[in-house]
Order: sequence, then C-alpha cells, then structure tokens
Amino acid sequence: MAEELTPETPEEQEPIKQRKNGLYPGVSDELAESMKSGWADTELHGLEPIAQAEYTAARRAALSRQFPGDRLVIPAGNLKTRSNDTEYNFRPSTEYAYLTGDHTNDGVLVLEPTADGHDATIYLLPRSDRENGEFWLDGMGELWTGRRHSLTEAEQLLGLPAKDVRELAAQLAEATGPVRVVRGHDAGIETALNDKVTAERDEEMRVFLSEARLVKDAFEVGELEKACASTARGFEDVVRVLDKAEATSERYIEGTFFLRARVEGNDIGYGSICAAGPHATTLHWVRNDGAVRSGELLLLDAGVETHTLYTADVTRTLPINGRFTAIQRKIYDAVYDAQEAGIAAVTPGAPYRAFHDAAQRVLAERLVAWGLLGDLDVEKVLELGLQRRWTLHGTGHMLGMDVHDCAAARTDNYVNGTLEPGMCLTVEPGLYFQADDLTVPEEYRGIGVRIEDDLLVTEDGNRNLSGSLPRRSDEVETWMAGLKG
Ligand code: GLY
Ligand code: MN
Ligand code: MN
Repeated sequence: MAEELTPETPEEQEPIKQRKNGLYPGVSDELAESMKSGWADTELHGLEPIAQAEYTAARRAALSRQFPGDRLVIPAGNLKTRSNDTEYNFRPSTEYAYLTGDHTNDGVLVLEPTADGHDATIYLLPRSDRENGEFWLDGMGELWTGRRHSLTEAEQLLGLPAKDVRELAAQLAEATGPVRVVRGHDAGIETALNDKVTAERDEEMRVFLSEARLVKDAFEVGELEKACASTARGFEDVVRVLDKAEATSERYIEGTFFLRARVEGNDIGYGSICAAGPHATTLHWVRNDGAVRSGELLLLDAGVETHTLYTADVTRTLPINGRFTAIQRKIYDAVYDAQEAGIAAVTPGAPYRAFHDAAQRVLAERLVAWGLLGDLDVEKVLELGLQRRWTLHGTGHMLGMDVHDCAAARTDNYVNGTLEPGMCLTVEPGLYFQADDLTVPEEYRGIGVRIEDDLLVTEDGNRNLSGSLPRRSDEVETWMAGLKG
C-alpha cells in the first residue's frame, strides 16, 4: 500500500492525520493550487431511502418513547489502529447500525428531546474539503479512504437530518439537561459527556436496545435468511475443497469460507472455527493452523454476515473423507437426536430454557447408556450436571446483528423468559471428548461433534433458517458425495 508523503523534518514527523487543516510542508504552492480545482461535481440527486429506513424510524420511535426528556447519544465508533498507520476494517456499533442503517466510522445518532418526543439527527463526517487540502493531505481525506456521502445524500438515504460530526463533541459539552450515551465506542464523545452521564442510566439504555432486538422485524428476518443462505453456500464451498485442505491445513477451510463471506456479504460474523480432528474438542478453535486428515472429523462453525450486519451461526461436523466411522457416527447421532429434541422445544410460549433442557436430557441419556457415568441414573446426572464434562456449553443463544445477540437483555426477559414469534436463536448441542480424557474409552478421545442451526420462532412452531444444510449422518454423507463428485 502507498504511504502518505514521507515526513523529512522534525516538524513534518507529526502524524499527518493530526494536521487536519494545514498544508503538508514540501508541497509547492503550485501543486496545492492545482489540487484545489479541476474536479467534477459528483453530488448524487434523487436517492431512494435504504430498504430498512422505515424500520430504523420505528426503532428510533420506540427508543424515544422509552426515554422521554433525555438527550440520547448513540455513536458508531471510531477506526481502530491495527499497526502504525493501518486500521482494522470498520464495523459500526450494533446499536448505531440498528437505529440508523448507516455504517460509517465516527457517525453519531442524537435524539434531541422535544415537547412530544425527540428529534433525531445523524452526525457524520462530511465530504472532504478541497480548498484546505484535507481531501488529499489528511489521512482521513476522501482521496485516501474513498468518497463519502455528502450530508444531503445521507439525509435522503437514511431518512433523517444529517449534520457535520466534527462540531458535535463541543456542542454536547456545552449542552444542558439529562443525557444518556451508549458507551464503549467513541472516547471523544464520552469525554464530552463525562460530567453529564451516569453508568447506571447509560446501562438502562444499553439494556433497552438489547431487549428491543429480542423480536426481529420483517426486515431482520429477511436478512437472517440471506445470511443463512450464503452460509450454506460457504459450507458447500468447503466440502468441495477438502482435498486441498488435506494438502495444506485448516487455513484452507477458513480462507474458502471467508471468500464466500466477503463476496456475498460484509464479512464473517465471527472468527470461523475450522477444527479438524481433536481440535474439534476446543470450543473456540480459531487458530485454524492444524492438519486436516482423512478419517477424522471436521467441525466447521462459521457464519456469513450480510451487508446489513446480520450474521448466521451454523455448525456442521463432517467426516473429512465423506464417511463416518462407527464411533464417530455413534457420537454424531446422539448429538443429532439431542438437536432434534431441542428444535422440537422451540415454539412460541415455551420457556426459553426448554430447548436446552430437552437437548441436555438426550445427551445425558446417551452418556449413561454408554456407561460413561458409572451407576448413576439420568435424573441424578442431570441434577448434578455431570453430563457437562462432555456437553460443555449452553445449547444456544439469540442471534442477530451480534452472533450472541441481545447479550445485555435482563435475565427475566431472556434466559428466564418465554419464546415469542420473531425471535431467532441457535440450537447447538455438542459432545466433546478431550484427547487427554482418561475417564472415557480410548476410541472416544479426540472426537468433538456440534450441530448448530438458526431457528426462527413462528406463530405455530419454528422455521430452521439453516435447514438447507443436511444434518442427519446419512444425509450428510450423501450430500458430501454429491459435492465432491
Ligand atoms: N460460534 C459461536 C457460537 O456458536 O456460539
Ligand atoms: Mn457457532
Ligand atoms: Mn452459536
């Protein structure tokens, strides 16, 4: 990648990004003058609102109703340095994207209280100024980072007034009256509000925004469907290249899935878990640097994040050579049966915990039947939670813009709550026998199986959004044989 103009003198060594308005030393007056002009007017006219604009308006209205009289500040966040002068790809805060549909760094949504609600304004970086050199001499200038929407364009796209964000911190510092901010994304905005906010009141707003996302609207359901469809294609891509992964490593699988995520969506929704052989027993194996061997299992847990930032979260455990061994099939089929029991419990009006309890019961029954828990009966095993040595994690979680969505929701409204139509959650039981687990027969050791699907609660049950990918062991084998040709 190109570097910005190389600093030579000590004065020039001040990072260029911090010199927002001064011309860079060493630039001739003639070049500076040349760069000011000769550019076409590229303003876009008559833009249609983005598809989710009507939904974001409804979400802002719900937030407004919850906190009358308070100024509400929801930042997108800033770029984060990866090293020296390069940054990580930017992803806006979930709260900001949920309420605006905008994804640009440094943006801030402000809901200003009025007599009968709030006026919403989005504060954004405007187009780069060409007169003062910002356009090409500032590292955030459009010549370096790409064209931004003008404030007028943003207003048309997002359906709310847009203003220059660069004055916002000073305005907020001066403002009076009660304020709440979503913390953890924009240090500059938080500093400006430092003496006006309290952690407790800010947390109330974060909790509200998390609970607001428990039930998905029609736009969100459509995006989750897209995420699952792209993810299914990504899993097919991986099956087609398993021979190349065998010749290289788990990284080939990670890269293959990532290609699908970047071409069809925004990104992967979380670090892909590409766990071959005994790595499958490590719940969050994301190093992905191990060998892929015929005769072993591949546990692939991966999800495409759509352009609107909704992610799938899907796991399949696949025999690398296309056929399960007897012991692999025995463990796989137990997890499949547990998942079936869990999915059957996903129905409106059911306690949220029911699908977890149903899946855990099936797994405990198998572990007892296999003689891994001595003389204990299933009820005692469940009472003591002893199955958890091998089941390890909860059986699922809410899914949406965050892979573990709605994480700030109160226990009473989530884990101790009731399923409702429009909720979307994973059902993902697993069994994991660590390679060094001396309490199980040797043939179990190093085998890990998880099957994970994304369920939408409907009016009369559920719909499996990732159900196009086969799950039953014989269907997995047939599907793999078809793809490998
Ligand atoms: N991929 C993380 C999870 O399944 O929850
Ligand atoms: Mn997962
Ligand atoms: Mn999950």
